[in-house]
Amino acid sequence: MKTEVLIPTDENIKKAAELLKNGMLVGMPTETVYGLAANAFDENAVKGIFKAKGRPQDNPLIVHISCPEMLSPLVKEISPLAKKLSEKFWGGPLTMIFSKTDIIPSVTSGGLDTVAIRMPSNPVALKLIEECGFPIAAPSANISGKPSPTTAQHVFDDMEGKIPLILDGGKCDVGVESTVICFTEKGVKILRPGGITSEMLSEFCEVEIDKAIYNKIEHGETVLSPGMKYKHYSPKAKVYLVEGSTENFLDFMNKNSGDRIFALTYKECDEPNFISYGDTSAEEANVLFALLRDLDKKNAQVIYVQSPQKNGVGLAVYNRLIRAAEFDIIVL
Ligand code: TXA
Ligand code: MG
Repeated sequence: MKTEVLIPTDENIKKAAELLKNGMLVGMPTETVYGLAANAFDENAVKGIFKAKGRPQDNPLIVHISCPEMLSPLVKEISPLAKKLSEKFWGGPLTMIFSKTDIIPSVTSGGLDTVAIRMPSNPVALKLIEECGFPIAAPSANISGKPSPTTAQHVFDDMEGKIPLILDGGKCDVGVESTVICFTEKGVKILRPGGITSEMLSEFCEVEIDKAIYNKIEHGETVLSPGMKYKHYSPKAKVYLVEGSTENFLDFMNKNSGDRIFALTYKECDEPNFISYGDTSAEEANVLFALLRDLDKKNAQVIYVQSPQKNGVGLAVYNRLIRAAEFDIIVL
């Protein structure tokens, strides 16, 4: 199959919608990362997503809607808190977990009786969903395990020959996937940190952070979010997360340098093989996946990453990095 990459004119969005109506898959820009879109109600199309990504069948997909009114047929109940958070944070990078109705096929929800739903803010994604008239199931459009795609080129690199069309909406604004929450007795629990931070949510309710965000899941342990148990976000290079002062980090790098050894730091640095990944957590989130993909192209063997701040969006960056590093942390 030839994979076309097209800019999202009205005509090309219509073309993408036609493909989706016919059970095909399309690469779709969102404000977080690119998604691999299919009709959420079409079991065969959704099965195609799992096949194209090589994704485990028990890892459920996020269902994307274009307006809050699309929510009620999909879910059994919308609590006052869910309503409030949707008014505050949709469209935007917040995914909420609800009890699902039978209209959502079990393949979409990974066999669970719940469904994850979000309304993106990206205008191309919204227009595409609207044009389709049905909700769109879309995981990140990478091969399972690899860093998520933040440009149309990244999607092309992973999906060439497997899907007919990618809409090229430019570089994603946020750069890491949406915040995933479920509801608790007193508030919400964050299952995956993202652009809507714990600090932002705590203005509205009590916020718990799931322990799987910081810790490795042991074999056989049950998790609230199935995605947390899989290897994730990994470039080919071995990644280590390094905790310690910038001075100690630079000293450590001097002792461990090499042609195929790279350092990601948040301080500007002139040394070869040192790459700055931004001064703020938002900048780090924005460039992280693209840098990991670039380093694979440079044939990096080892990447030492200076550990990010763990608050705000920094928690999302940290969460992706400890997984990319398979929990190998060096404390200086
Ligand atoms: O920003 C995003 O959320 C992107 C864009 C494309 O919208 N999508 C995305 O999808 O990151 P994906 O499939 O790569 O990640 C979805 C995460 C997984 O960790 C999955 O386990 C979790 O959400 N999830 C989905 N449905 C769930 C459910 N019913 N209960 C718990 N976790 C769920
Ligand atoms: Mg993903």
